[in-house]
Amino acid sequence: MPKPKVFVTRLIPEKGLALIRDFCDADIWQDELPPPRKELLARVRDVDGLVSLLTEKVDGELMDAAPRLKIISNMAVGVDNVDVAAATARKLPVGNTPGVLTDATADMAFALMLSAARRIVEGEKYVRDGKWKTWNPQLLLGADFVGATLGIIGFGRIGKAVAKRAKGFDLRVIYYDPSVPSTSDATPVDLDTLFRESDFISLHVPLTDETRHMINANTLSKMKPNAILVNSSRGPVVDPHALHDALKSNRIFAAALDVTEPEPLPADSPLLGLDNCLVVPHLGSASKYTRDMMSYLAAQNLIAGLKGERLPNCVNPEVYG
Ligand code: DGY
Repeated sequence: MPKPKVFVTRLIPEKGLALIRDFCDADIWQDELPPPRKELLARVRDVDGLVSLLTEKVDGELMDAAPRLKIISNMAVGVDNVDVAAATARKLPVGNTPGVLTDATADMAFALMLSAARRIVEGEKYVRDGKWKTWNPQLLLGADFVGATLGIIGFGRIGKAVAKRAKGFDLRVIYYDPSVPSTSDATPVDLDTLFRESDFISLHVPLTDETRHMINANTLSKMKPNAILVNSSRGPVVDPHALHDALKSNRIFAAALDVTEPEPLPADSPLLGLDNCLVVPHLGSASKYTRDMMSYLAAQNLIAGLKGERLPNCVNPEVYG
């Protein structure tokens, strides 16, 4: 029996790749950058399975270019790069990798919050630039945590894990998430209350039509002047021009972004010219164990799909009728 053919759009960690190589005839894209669209369409022509990353647009055109395709396995929890409705219409199961990146992403959100509040990156640059001459009672003063309010938008797995960390810092935690009516860990509030009362705001929503640019000039204008905005969800949840204006005019205190619009952020982005904007390159899930497990779950989804079995983690279970 010939092995099923699959295309893997990047060199993913060996924990998952070893399984894929064992079970499949795998074409693995070796470049550091994602396959260009034309190449992607050509490579999927005769595959039974696809392992994609959030950098690939997996849409109806791609699905139609791959008439043998049985499974799309996205190595991410977010699937906004995949047209799930188009996959469902074609009875194609789409797999994702939830759970294993919850703690790593919550850690990153907290690290960003601490870094922005205590101006870690500015301080590091100050030292490297040779500006550190003495202990200065007014130097790089930041924000306190104890007694401050953290507003979490999106109270799913990662939002809850951020709330858990916040308890250790004696933060008051409020959240906005209409799908989570109440919890003992935090207080549900409406969005306006969250913007009005939060000293820290951390975003943990998926990217949808409703959440695109939910942080915009209007919502930024409702925030406290000392507010610190942290985004480790998806870049387009924040309107970058409105954020730039709010940071530049000190309308809010700071922002810390793990994700941006566009992504990657060009080196000449005005946001990078601001000291009160900290940007890291989408590292939320970037710990060794987490990425190993993401590749493992992606491989499990892929192999289940190729065998015609139900995916362990499927975002469109409707395909099973
Ligand atoms: C995901 O899995 O959606 C993350 O953004 C990758 O870190």
